Amino acid sequence: MANKVTKIGILTSGGDAPGMNAAIRAAVRTGIYHGLEVFGIMRGYSGMLDDDIIPMHSRSVANIIQRGGTILKTARCKEFYEPEGRKIAYANLKKHGIDGLVIIGGDGSFRGADKFSREYDIPCIGLPGTIDKDIAGTDFTIGFDTAVNTAVEAIDKIRDTADAHDRLFIIEVMGRDAGYIALHSGIATGAENILIPERKTDIDELIGSLLEKEKRKKLVNLVVVAEGDGFGGADEVAKVVKERIPQADTRVCILGHIQRGGSPSCLDRLIASRMGYHAVECLIEGKHNMMVGIVNNKMHYTPLEKAVKAKQKISDDWIKIVKILAS
Ligand code: ADP
Ligand code: F6P
Repeated sequence: MANKVTKIGILTSGGDAPGMNAAIRAAVRTGIYHGLEVFGIMRGYSGMLDDDIIPMHSRSVANIIQRGGTILKTARCKEFYEPEGRKIAYANLKKHGIDGLVIIGGDGSFRGADKFSREYDIPCIGLPGTIDKDIAGTDFTIGFDTAVNTAVEAIDKIRDTADAHDRLFIIEVMGRDAGYIALHSGIATGAENILIPERKTDIDELIGSLLEKEKRKKLVNLVVVAEGDGFGGADEVAKVVKERIPQADTRVCILGHIQRGGSPSCLDRLIASRMGYHAVECLIEGKHNMMVGIVNNKMHYTPLEKAVKAKQKISDDWIKIVKILAS
């Protein structure tokens, strides 16, 4: 039987995502409900190393459910990759008596948590917080819904101006290793083509399909490119398009970090609240090294190690849908 947790630490790590605050709020208040002492660890693993650890109360998380970013701040921490760094982090947790951690972040943060937990026997529960939705073991990640809706809103606006000028727009959305934002926002805005890291970009096919559309006098075309597509993103794609279709009036728009900010959507607040609550329940039940996800609308627990390694696959169906609907 695992030792009962009494003091928990919560941190946000890696890239921020809208809804992280809702998850922090849920974890803090669930912890307090169960009589635990709750600490906020600032700037991800960096706060563990620097002993930037603050007590949290119910009021500490008032008025944050609707706010983007993270009140605990986030960071990438080089020292945590090294055993010496993790040793210092452990010593600081010990000092505060923290015996359980809730880590809200992406797969890198889980990799760190998994290692740390194995070395120091501190139970860690991960919550998937990333706009990229590239974590296995969950249908949702905190932040994806907001980010994709931000992208859709922006692309709709681009369509207005593209339509006014009969222009071809190459739009880059976020997604270093994953094409979900591109795929979802592209389908939702009627993009002609979507280029994602999970599939080899066939530039000849793209040029061929744009030329074919031009022949049919379809002059407004939106191509949505994930930043991590194998061809090098929107700028590289546009270079070739401009060279091979000089008659098209082509523009590039890189949406960038606006996709990371903003007030979380209802869905992100909801899943963050459910996950935050269940993270603390897991610690109380003695669960170790699990990521809390939601699959088929039910809570689903995946060992951190597996949440780390497995990547979701994008089915060919999605691409077929894009091609048929964009005709
Ligand atoms: P994300 O969690 O969004 O994927 P990163 O990959 O940048 O973001 O990881 C966040 C932090 O997690 C890193 O800066 C580092 O402190 C920690 N981390 C990531 N991978 C490891 C690892 N293999 N070992 C130890 N710590 C890690
Ligand atoms: O992981 C989320 C993400 O937004 C990626 O899509 C993007 O490549 C990356 O973070 C950018 O991170 P940053 O600008 O914080 O280095």
